[in-house]
Formats: sequence, structure tokens, C-alpha cells
Amino acid sequence: MTEPQRERVLSGTRPTGRLHLGHLHGALLNWVSLQQQYDCFFFVADWHALTSEYETSGVIAANVRELVADWLGAGLDPERATLFVQSKVKEHAELFLILGMITPLGWLERNPTYKEMQENLTAKDLSTFGFLGYPVLQASDILAYRAHHVPVGVDQLPHLEITREIARRFNFLFRNTFPEPQALLTKSSKVAGTDGRKMSKSYGNTLDLADTPDTLRAKVKTMFTDPQRKRRNDPGDPEVCPVYQLHRLYHPDAERVAEIGADCRAAKIGCVDCKKEMVEHLITGTEAVRERRAAALARPGYIEDVLDHGNLRARAIASHTLDAVRAAVGLPTEP
Ligand code: TRP
Ligand code: SF4
Repeated sequence: MTEPQRERVLSGTRPTGRLHLGHLHGALLNWVSLQQQYDCFFFVADWHALTSEYETSGVIAANVRELVADWLGAGLDPERATLFVQSKVKEHAELFLILGMITPLGWLERNPTYKEMQENLTAKDLSTFGFLGYPVLQASDILAYRAHHVPVGVDQLPHLEITREIARRFNFLFRNTFPEPQALLTKSSKVAGTDGRKMSKSYGNTLDLADTPDTLRAKVKTMFTDPQRKRRNDPGDPEVCPVYQLHRLYHPDAERVAEIGADCRAAKIGCVDCKKEMVEHLITGTEAVRERRAAALARPGYIEDVLDHGNLRARAIASHTLDAVRAAVGLPTEP
């Protein structure tokens, strides 16, 4: 008996730094569970990194290795999912070129992410052709695999919408070639950063998957708590405290978590002790991630092998799609 064809899921990450607990509880654990049910493709979007990091492109290669180690640490399984590198599958570039021919400039100029990044990242010159074309490259990533589902956060919905518009336009102009991919909306992560704001590299408030237990202890020690709780005798509000969120996620004993909450409100527990208890459970709860991550990095050639294998599998599918694309457009097909 042949296995019924599983629907395809695809998503990508730009290799611009270490992954942290926000990524783990936002996207990654969701990806890990999607592996059971779908034919999953997860790729390192190194060309996309280049659209904004072209002046410091030298760091991208090292980031790719670390990113894949983070993925394996989180539990992505190269036996179940295809893990690959965008720039190793040239079909993305060919499709990008062809889709570029049919994408109206207005769609790209109106893209809210484009405007926002232009305004916020004034230190970088993002007035490039490549940066404007970012969503066309993203559409190519998705359509090259005729993916059905794309797990992304809300910030990526405009890009998904442009992808769907490009797919419709291609299907209309030439022939029906692409399914319209659906966003699988990732619920936003409930983990706040060490300063109580959203966990983000740009705020410098992250707890990273690569952090050692001692680094985690040091970071948690200086972590923000309820800002209203200035002295040990002041009652606190666990609901506004990022330490308490991590108790909820990592404490194995739910009754004890409730008790800590009550003790906080009654000023019966101090923040120093509360943090000490939390961080040890956080360390235990993320031990497996660190172990898998370190094991992947320690085995010579392992990450390279995983990617070689994934690149090959990805290329096979993308090249099949590109045959269909060339035929639909009327371009010469490969011999
Ligand atoms: N733009 C995405 C991000 O910044 C990364 C990405 C590139 C992507 N290509 C993709 C995500 C294709 C999903 C599908 O997070
Ligand atoms: Fe947060 Fe714990 Fe301090 Fe309460 S006691 S404010 S939950 S760290």
C-alpha cells in the first residue's frame, strides 16, 4: 500500500541570529508538530537575508549552521521534514525572475512591510531592486513546491496575500499551475523578554536556545518582574510578570504555580527566590533542546549532510514545478 499523499507545508527563516524562546513557543514547536501530519519543507532563507544584510553578508554562512542546529535542537527531524537552504536550489531564482515579469509594481510598492522597514531601518539603504522584490522571492519559495499551507506569524500575512495574488495571476495568464497557498497563522508567543517587552533580538532581551544554564541563570537574575513591586513587602501581580509566564510554561507542578501566584500577591515570596525556582525548571525543560543542538554541532559533517540531503529533495520537487512553469509560459523546456 502506498502512503496517501500528505499535503505540503513550507516555511522559511532568515539566518540573521540565534533563535530564542519566543521563536520556540511561537513558531518552532508548531513546526515540530506539523511534521507528524504534513509533508514539511523548512528552509534557510539566505537570499532573503541578503536583501537587508548585503553589507555584512560575511556572517550569513555561520548563521546558517547555527540556525539549523537550533532547528534540530527544537525537534525538527530530518527524517520527517525536508530541511534545506534557499540559495542551494536555483529554481527559486528562476521562478523569481519569471514571476517578476507578471507582478505589477504597485503590489510591491503598497506592501506595508516594505514601507515599514524602509522607515524603521534608516541605517540601511533598502532602496534596492532586491528589497522591493522581497515578496516575489517569497512567492517563488512557496510556489516552487506548490505548498498548501504556510505557517507564519501575522507580520507575514501581507506577503502571503501577494503570493496568492501572483499565483492567481499566473494561473489566469498562462494555465492553472499553482494552488493558492493558505497561511497557517502561528499564534503569537506568550513569552515576554527579560525586560517585559516582546522577546526580540533587537531589544537584547532574549533567552536563547543556545544559552548555557549559567547564562540563563545570569539573565533571569536581572530579569524584570512586576514593575509595581519595588520592595520585598509590596504585594505583586504575577499576571504582569514575565517570570511568572515562564513558571506557567516550565513548572512541572501546576498547584505549586498557583501557590506561587498567591504568595506573590500576598508578598509571601520574594522575587529572588521566585526566580531561582523558575530558572531551574526552565533549565530542566530546555535541557533536551540544548543536548540535541550540541550533538548536531559536535558530529563532524552532520549538519552539512542533513542539508545536502534536504537540498537534493527540494531541488527534485522545485525542478519538476519549473518544468511545468516553463511549459505554461511557452519557454523552452529542459532537454
Ligand atoms: N519573510 C519570512 C520572514 O521574514 C521568511 C520567508 C522567506 C518565508 N520565504 C518564505 C516564510 C516563504 C514563509 C514562506 O519571516
Ligand atoms: Fe514575579 Fe515571582 Fe516576583 Fe511575583 S514573586 S513579581 S511572580 S518574580
